[in-house]
Amino acid sequence: MIDDIRKKAESYLTTKRLVHTLSVEETAVKIASFYSVDENKVRIASILHDIAKDIPIEKSLEIAKEYNIDISDIFIKNPDLIHAFLGAIIAKNDFGIDDQEIIESIKYHTLGKENMGLISLIVYISDFVEPNKKVSNKIKEIIVKEAMSGYIYRAAFMVCVEKIKYVISEMKYMHPDTLFFYNFLCENERKCLLPNS
Ligand SMILES: [Fe+2]
Ligand SMILES: [Fe+2]
Repeated sequence: MIDDIRKKAESYLTTKRLVHTLSVEETAVKIASFYSVDENKVRIASILHDIAKDIPIEKSLEIAKEYNIDISDIFIKNPDLIHAFLGAIIAKNDFGIDDQEIIESIKYHTLGKENMGLISLIVYISDFVEPNKKVSNKIKEIIVKEAMSGYIYRAAFMVCVEKIKYVISEMKYMHPDTLFFYNFLCENERKCLLPNS
């Protein structure tokens, strides 16, 4: 089943995106091995997380409208943010994915969300730290180390901080969900999920 999904996903993605996607999958499975999560779900969520990213913006806005996705000002001003929400729709409609953990992981992999589950956190982090991502290796190493020591919330917190720094440095629009997510992680970053850490 995973092989079929991976094969089908290829036709939605550019070569560069496919390389990123497979790298996210590998990273996510590595991190997931430290936690009690379903590896298959982690794989599917990773493979499909950017499934809508190569759809042209005009078309994305069209689909968003068709599915009544709230296209707030911020989405219009930073349309790249829509791909995660559209991805969740494509995962359901084209790939027949009904599992809510997988759908949530795809939907919130860019902005994050308060109280998001373990698989979503793993995909959110892996999307940022996969080896091809143009982020300082030192920062990626620290984040991966935290993620593999039970401190999954702290790892996500660090990713969230890096994303906020980027948004500010580029003077881009900040989606309010990012700030809600930041506050949620701030409250949870000391939580360790591995008993022997
Ligand atoms: Fe993405
Ligand atoms: Fe991605």
